[in-house]
Amino acid sequence: MTDNKENILKLEKYGIGGVVLKSLFEEEIIIEKQSNLKRMTSGGFLYPETVEFYEFDEGPRESTIEYLNLIRELKKASAIPVIASINCVTASQWTYFPKEIESAGADAIELNLFILPSDLNRSAEENEKVYFQIIDEVVKQVKIPVAVKISYYFSNLATMIKRLSETKISGIVLFNKFYSPDFDIDTFDMTSGNVLSSPGDLPVSLRWIAIMAERVSCDLVASTGVHDGSALIKQLLAGAKAVQITSVLYKYGIEHVAKILEDLKNWMEKHKFSSIDQFRGKMSQSKSSDPASYERIQFMKYFRGYQSNT
Ligand SMILES: Cc1cc2nc3c(=O)[nH]c(=O)nc-3n(C[C@H](O)[C@H](O)[C@H](O)COP(=O)(O)O)c2cc1C
Repeated sequence: MTDNKENILKLEKYGIGGVVLKSLFEEEIIIEKQSNLKRMTSGGFLYPETVEFYEFDEGPRESTIEYLNLIRELKKASAIPVIASINCVTASQWTYFPKEIESAGADAIELNLFILPSDLNRSAEENEKVYFQIIDEVVKQVKIPVAVKISYYFSNLATMIKRLSETKISGIVLFNKFYSPDFDIDTFDMTSGNVLSSPGDLPVSLRWIAIMAERVSCDLVASTGVHDGSALIKQLLAGAKAVQITSVLYKYGIEHVAKILEDLKNWMEKHKFSSIDQFRGKMSQSKSSDPASYERIQFMKYFRGYQSNT
């Protein structure tokens, strides 16, 4: 959706506040010669999907040039902030590229950081250390704001979010949604899980935005499961500084942005709010009269009166 000017101008027309461009993979930045394909397929690389989908005859360098050209084009044609995005899992070789992104005119960089904690020989500390190494490397290359988009797969999520917020980054996006494998039980093939989110995916990020909102030293951005105006309002009430949407735009089209914003406007009028700051964080855990409810995780009480329909 955000790999071309047409869509982005359309998003702007319907009121979107800014765009995060489709992510470049760090491998795309690193690999400039086809000979490196051998190294990728030998299993040393961490993203098998780049091997699968990469157009090698096109030349990897091409995609990075196109990326920078898109940023330049957008900065001429559009007034909204353009945030470049990089999927990365190491702090080496590719980290010269953020400077090129900045020179092309991007307003910020989002680092999509995820190391699947599936390696039995790697400790949580080792995994976490990489996040800080990547941030250190990138923030020293650029002056524009840097944000990180993370998952909730940490052994102590609250501490990790807090520690990340105390680095030189400007924002943390909670949370990324990943490709998930699924099985076909008749053909025994691996299939792809749901690519798009559903409104039922909202509560995970809602809980963590609400818990962390007043406890961090950078902005928190909500992502995953925001499909309508009320979900947007909830994330703002939880304390989000910005809210990202993707799946809903694939589902209902880019025009849906206007509907979500209209719902927000109507709700603000109904509750006599004239600015978002008047209600941002109103429902965060630290402002709540019942802070324990944000940490309640068992259903005990709700099962008592629960009737099944079947
Ligand atoms: C088709 C598709 C492509 C995506 N591409 C990217 C990407 O390039 N980089 C990224 O960080 N996230 C990507 N995402 C994840 C979204 O940015 C977002 O984190 C996720 O879809 C959850 O938000 P949602 O519930 O609003 O869809 C993609 C999601 C979809 C559905």
